[in-house]
Amino acid sequence: MKRKLGPANALYPSLTTIVGTVVDGRPNFSAIAHVGIMNHGQPQYISIGVNRAHYSGRGIKEHKSFSVCVPSEALVRETDYVGLVSGKNTDKSDVFEIFNGDVPGAPMIEGCPVCMECRLTQTVDFPAHEVFIGEIVNTYADEAVLTDERVDIGKVRPLLFDMASVKYWSLGKEVASCWSVGKGLKKERRGG
Ligand SMILES: Cc1cc2nc3c(=O)[nH]c(=O)nc-3n(C[C@H](O)[C@H](O)[C@H](O)COP(=O)(O)O)c2cc1C
Repeated sequence: MKRKLGPANALYPSLTTIVGTVVDGRPNFSAIAHVGIMNHGQPQYISIGVNRAHYSGRGIKEHKSFSVCVPSEALVRETDYVGLVSGKNTDKSDVFEIFNGDVPGAPMIEGCPVCMECRLTQTVDFPAHEVFIGEIVNTYADEAVLTDERVDIGKVRPLLFDMASVKYWSLGKEVASCWSVGKGLKKERRGG
């Protein structure tokens, strides 16, 4: 028997990211965990949900771009910091060593093992948040987190965000192979 919880969002954990923008001519970084994959194919689109009160949104709208970097567990303090203070009253441009790619207005973080620079393609308006959808123009990854030229999440050690416990969690062990572990059941249900 399940307890009815009302419209509680139980879609956690989500990936903790750091979104890079340029606001009022200055790089700004903010922790963003409400991220989504919008179009898995070509082009690749991802979304970020940003509260209207935040400073970051201004830069995204001005430059029509943003970056999304994935911090590892080692960057937990800095990640939390850029999620605690606003660029409105604190200069966060010197928290990280920054690099730029091909997209203006999308500064990225050397210390994050994976970064994506995005061009804004669409904005979806909600009462409290704006969901910015961006096309991934380029992805940058440290050699150390690659296995066979692909980003290896076991090496990235991302920070998982949970709203219920208000904690960062780490990735556990792999469970099984996708599009594979269910094959036996598929066969059984077909009756062999
Ligand atoms: C782990 C974590 C995740 C967060 N995720 C989001 C998010 O998805 N959307 C959002 O609007 N704010 C989120 N925040 C809050 C912003 O990062 C925070 O308000 C920040 O100070 C905004 O900075 P800015 O005003 O410079 O843009 C998160 C904070 C933390 C610590």
